[in-house]
Amino acid sequence: MCGIVGYIGRREATPLLIQGLKRLEYRGYDSFGIATVGSEIDVFKKQGRISESEAGTVVLGGSVGIGHTRWATHGEPNDSNAHPHTDCTGRLALVHNGVIENYIELKKQLLERGHIFRSETDTEVIVHLLEENFTGDLLEAVKKTVPLLEGSYAILAVSAHDDRIVAARDCSPLVLGIGDGELFAASDMTPLLEHTERIIFLEDGDIAEISPERVEIYHDGAKVERSVELVNWGIEDAKKGGFAHYMLKEIFEQPQAFYETIRAGISDAVQEMIRDAEEITLVACGTSYHTALIFKYLAEPLCRIPVRVELGSEFKYYPPPLRGLVIAVTQSGETADTIAALKMAKAHNCPTLAITNVQGSTVTRIADTTLMMRAGPEISVAATKSYIAQLAALMEIVNVRCDGKYDDLLQHAHLAIGEVLLQEMQGAVALCREAEHVFFVGRGPFYPVSMEGALKMKEISYVHAEGYAAGELKHGPFALLTPETPVVAICPPGSTYGVMISNIKEMKARRAPIIALGKKGDTELAEIVDIFIPIPDSDPMVQVLTTSVALQLLSYHTACALARDVDKPRNLAKSVTVE
Ligand code: F6R
Repeated sequence: MCGIVGYIGRREATPLLIQGLKRLEYRGYDSFGIATVGSEIDVFKKQGRISESEAGTVVLGGSVGIGHTRWATHGEPNDSNAHPHTDCTGRLALVHNGVIENYIELKKQLLERGHIFRSETDTEVIVHLLEENFTGDLLEAVKKTVPLLEGSYAILAVSAHDDRIVAARDCSPLVLGIGDGELFAASDMTPLLEHTERIIFLEDGDIAEISPERVEIYHDGAKVERSVELVNWGIEDAKKGGFAHYMLKEIFEQPQAFYETIRAGISDAVQEMIRDAEEITLVACGTSYHTALIFKYLAEPLCRIPVRVELGSEFKYYPPPLRGLVIAVTQSGETADTIAALKMAKAHNCPTLAITNVQGSTVTRIADTTLMMRAGPEISVAATKSYIAQLAALMEIVNVRCDGKYDDLLQHAHLAIGEVLLQEMQGAVALCREAEHVFFVGRGPFYPVSMEGALKMKEISYVHAEGYAAGELKHGPFALLTPETPVVAICPPGSTYGVMISNIKEMKARRAPIIALGKKGDTELAEIVDIFIPIPDSDPMVQVLTTSVALQLLSYHTACALARDVDKPRNLAKSVTVE
């Protein structure tokens, strides 16, 4: 949801900023821009993503600079709405991630006071306010400006003739990287990994004055110390490593992501929290919401504990009765709706747990405790290995509640995941790539697996897809079944196998082509469907994993067949830091 970077040191800032923005493109890619500081401020900004433009030819001198890659919220993607924004004098420049909710009112006042606006963005009000508050000291100007802002922001500001960057955050992420005689700032760690492993995670309300040798941080007007943390992600983890797309690489990293998450185990504090819980509410969005739903299907029958699953975006406005353990499930740890729900749970004194992939992310700072997933950096916008690592963490919770009954199963589940990776998808892809609509159906935990399969399909291939509980299709969606509407049915052995076979026959009778996922060697199923995708025979918990991976591959190969931009699907951004 927009990425920002800053550099100050001895090296040329421009190539470092461009490289940093490329690493952050997964947060948005509607436009990009940089500003460097010399006797004046030089700006280059442009609609579109960096790789598509003449970025290599951007030559702005200077060793202090800021940059931005945009996911448009206010104002369409074009050159003038691209960041950085400058004030009327051209002495100040600013990049921003977040949303200024009171910008209309602020803009009206600024226009009345004679400011001239050159964009439709909410961000531009900040730089005009800075101009009004600027009397030669950028830090003081930022200190006076941020209390006027309502909403969320992570900002980096520079002024001409000044070897400093001033950073501030509230409800949008911002981290600093400490190098040798140089400092970096960014929305997240990804662009910093190739330069340093020493990271400072700024807190909400922090203002930082950054120079090449040091950083000074202020909070509520007082100087504060923030610890320097060592991060354990290497830059190689964030590169494509010979795969055609990050998504494919990340799909292939899933056995490791699952295994590492299981191997890391659960701290005593988290175990105690889980054992003490009388009921559990999970809050999440998107793919993370689907893993939370899968947890409900596993935990309620296996652990006999009531589980409620809520969408972060609904929770805040229609809160359920708040009691018991509340778990926020979020890959990025920065999803605004999930954070808002977590804050509400805290305010109601519920014990809170965050399950996240990103060390130091906002949820880790809010929740009482954190259970880290070990997926490593996920660059592709579509979640894959973080989904599997979330399931590992959630299955570990089931295991704790069941006194370690699933230890052995979880220790070996990655092997079954590995078996699916080379599954051929040609026949299924041929059906899906021609389709306007695809249904995904399953029962029990395979219902949310089908929802996730449909989300992946529409997200990266732009083929419309719906995930349904298999028994529900005949209550309306049957009207849409035609020979051109494939149904992907998840049909593993188990208590729902017989009824799934009946459902498949009903759908076949409406002439819908059926792609079925079933146990390897299931000839009964293979004979009645159009395309059969074999899944290793295993426990239902493991089948949740293997069927999910097969559906990821189906979406991936369909998107490739349709020549889609797999890693950066249109209109999306990886971490959604606005409501
Ligand atoms: C889909 C996808 C999104 C995210 C959602 C929540 O592939 O990645 O649906 O799952 O935006 O993100 P996190 O998990 O970071 O809270």
